[in-house]
Amino acid sequence: MTDTDPGFAPLTLADYAERARAAVPVKTWDFIEGGAGDERTLRSNADAFERARLLPRVLAGVGLPDTGTRVLGRTWAAPVGIAPMAYHTLVHEQGEIATARAAGATGLPFVVSTFAGHTFEDIAAAASSPLWLQVYCFRDRSLTRELIHRAERAGFEALVLTVDAPRLGRRLRDLRHGFTLPPTVRPANLQDSGSGTGFGSPMEHALAEFDAALDWSVIGWLRSVSSLPVLLKGVLGGADARRAVDAGVDGLIVSNHGGRQLDGAPSTLDALPEVASAVAGACPVLVDGGVRRGADVLTSLASGADAVLLGRPVLHGLAVGGEEGVARVLGIVADELTEAMALCGTASVADAGPDLLAPRTAPP
Ligand code: FNR
Repeated sequence: MTDTDPGFAPLTLADYAERARAAVPVKTWDFIEGGAGDERTLRSNADAFERARLLPRVLAGVGLPDTGTRVLGRTWAAPVGIAPMAYHTLVHEQGEIATARAAGATGLPFVVSTFAGHTFEDIAAAASSPLWLQVYCFRDRSLTRELIHRAERAGFEALVLTVDAPRLGRRLRDLRHGFTLPPTVRPANLQDSGSGTGFGSPMEHALAEFDAALDWSVIGWLRSVSSLPVLLKGVLGGADARRAVDAGVDGLIVSNHGGRQLDGAPSTLDALPEVASAVAGACPVLVDGGVRRGADVLTSLASGADAVLLGRPVLHGLAVGGEEGVARVLGIVADELTEAMALCGTASVADAGPDLLAPRTAPP
């Protein structure tokens, strides 16, 4: 037991966050935890779940709920996936390899970042559940196309185009620390492209390389280079959701990038119902940002989501216990979801409707 070990096994995602904070350097912690600007959007993601309340259905005769669900033709053990995050190698040398193994062990999908610290091929070799590739579209389209083709050849099953980052938000914690990546942490999939150099500051690199003028024609371009399903990550409004459906996307992820992009954007739980109603079942709607408990997953389902993605808690599990830590974090959320569904009289994911939402308590 270390000085910082409180002497009990972590039981919640908050317990894992506390352990992770003690386990990593403060600059790394701030890179992971921080948001853009004054972090209003970051806080609002958590606050929205904090205010949400579930209304149990009593005497529903449920017994053991079934958390399993199908998304894009694949069965997930629970409506929970791993959000794309750069550089898992910042907190554990096995990085995305350990995360992929944990995702496989729990039967949950893993969205791998363009900025993964291991190669797509190595991650795929460790995986046994669905892998999706998160795509940042670079001005160099041939580089973007090559990344997609490599992931496709390695067995990735979908593309997640991040649309909320024409440039990176100003993350003041990183700027104040002068945060740079340690020499051992590199974007493993960009090394050979000539873009693998100069990655000391992730912000500066992104500003230089991202296509800042991306428009709706990018969906046609993705279709022209790949036959994989395309999801858009970072949609927050009904009008954009309708436009995306009209453009034929295969899924939407309601996301504000964990509060790391536009500070002042709505919380994702607040944005979700409008997007879900605009989509009206035309494609799956996922949500991420601030999900920290099984009850938050059930609240998201009741608000119109088909599934959620978990971000920072996965890195907390990885920092604390590698593969086993990630598996525990995912297992805790799945167990808590089972409990919340049982206590809410909800037999299945499809059974989680808006009647489960109690009126929100007023903000203080
Ligand atoms: C991210 N996120 C992100 N998103 C993306 O599309 N590509 C990326 O490379 C990254 N990288 C990244 C790194 C780190 C350290 C964090 C914390 C987040 C955003 C991520 O996919 C997701 O939208 C949020 O993290 C979800 O919010 P929570 O669960 O972290 O609150």
